[in-house]
Amino acid sequence: MNTIATTAIGHARRHAGFVAILAALAGLMFGLDVGVISGAQQFIQREFAISDRTLENVVSSMMVGAAVGAALAAWLSMHFGRKRSLVFSGSLFVIGSLICAAAWSPEALIGARFVLGLAIGIAAFTAPLYLAEIAPPDRRGAMISTYQLMITIGIFVAFLSDTGFSYIEGWRWMLGIIALPGALFLLGVMGLPESPRWLVLKQRHADADAVLQKLRGDPAAVRDEVAEITEQLRTPQQGWRLFLQNRNFRRSVALGIALQVVQQLTGINVVMYYAPRIFADMGYATSAQMWFTAIVGLTNVLATFIAIGFVDKIGRKPILYAGFVVMAIGLGIVGWLMYMGMGTQVERLLAVAMLLLFVVGFAFSAGPLVWTLCSEIQPLKGRDFGIGVSTVTNWVSNAIVGATFLTLLNGFGHARTFWLYAAFNAVFLLFTWALIPETRGVTLEQIERKLMAGERLRNIGA
Ligand code: BGC
Repeated sequence: MNTIATTAIGHARRHAGFVAILAALAGLMFGLDVGVISGAQQFIQREFAISDRTLENVVSSMMVGAAVGAALAAWLSMHFGRKRSLVFSGSLFVIGSLICAAAWSPEALIGARFVLGLAIGIAAFTAPLYLAEIAPPDRRGAMISTYQLMITIGIFVAFLSDTGFSYIEGWRWMLGIIALPGALFLLGVMGLPESPRWLVLKQRHADADAVLQKLRGDPAAVRDEVAEITEQLRTPQQGWRLFLQNRNFRRSVALGIALQVVQQLTGINVVMYYAPRIFADMGYATSAQMWFTAIVGLTNVLATFIAIGFVDKIGRKPILYAGFVVMAIGLGIVGWLMYMGMGTQVERLLAVAMLLLFVVGFAFSAGPLVWTLCSEIQPLKGRDFGIGVSTVTNWVSNAIVGATFLTLLNGFGHARTFWLYAAFNAVFLLFTWALIPETRGVTLEQIERKLMAGERLRNIGA
């Protein structure tokens, strides 16, 4: 190959890398949004003098917005394109963050967090779709894991920034500062090319060629890819009709729903949203609460690498078993320590360590793997629908967990609340054994064939 062609390809690879970074920024914002509320709560509660019940609404209105956003996202990104959906989401993100910072009443805050949620729901559906459509085929897996990792990094950064602003009790700063990465994201996505796949879908073949030429740099590769996309689009998406007509597809949709409910009922977001409160209830003062929360965030990031390293080597099911065992043990011991009342420093530190153990268990298993499995089990014709339904389920169950934790603590008691979640994790071992297929090293076509032939769900993989 001559030097000019090589330079063009090198240039194109860098361009594709830049595109991926921008779309992964969507993951970062997802994480910032999840993380930011935990440190702000106590100051919000004090300033507006609101009950735990109202505080739960402040926390969970974001997830309700995200559920609505995710439900709208498939339609938006189909009609207006992936790029315009991302631009719309970026704008909502900036507006929502600024109104949060300026909120004059608890109701205004609840409304602004709903808007923020819409932004995240749309981005959380559209960005992975865009990434998968634009990534060079040999780097697709890596790009999607990057997106996962970005979520945990976003949570961690939000925890750190909350810790910094906690010294001036600056909850408005905590909530407002994330407009900055939001604005960067918005500027970035405005410069993105439209997804070539969507362009082909809309019969804009010349535009698709031009975008791919810029991304890949090699005319032969562009021709192959356009041919492949055109071939794939011969299988039109017909999710809803398939859902009504085909029992086997209903089974995979149901499995996607169950997987997401399970992920949320592990209790992970109890920790992500309420960690400082949990540390307060263990007897720690404000600055220790905030720093421990930052450590929770860092642990969550680091343990995600374990999943990335092992998921294609030892498989999904062994990792899930290990994760549920670790989570059940961690939460079980936290509950037990809460029950005994933590009299000594050692017991209090042990409680922190066990909460961290729980986070490790989640981050190397159910966190990334549920998203992976959800995208693997749906047949091609119903993939958009199936993934859309499971994503909405993620946010709905996320909202329920967020909206009930303080009520549970107050009504049911600390120990029993943690035991409840520990028990869920123990039950999920059974769920894993009975229903989850092992999808490692199996092509999506093989999974689809077995599913549609009526094999039991646990057997549709290897
Ligand atoms: C979950 C989120 C959670 C995050 C924590 C994701 O996989 O879907 O609800 O906040 O992990 O890292």
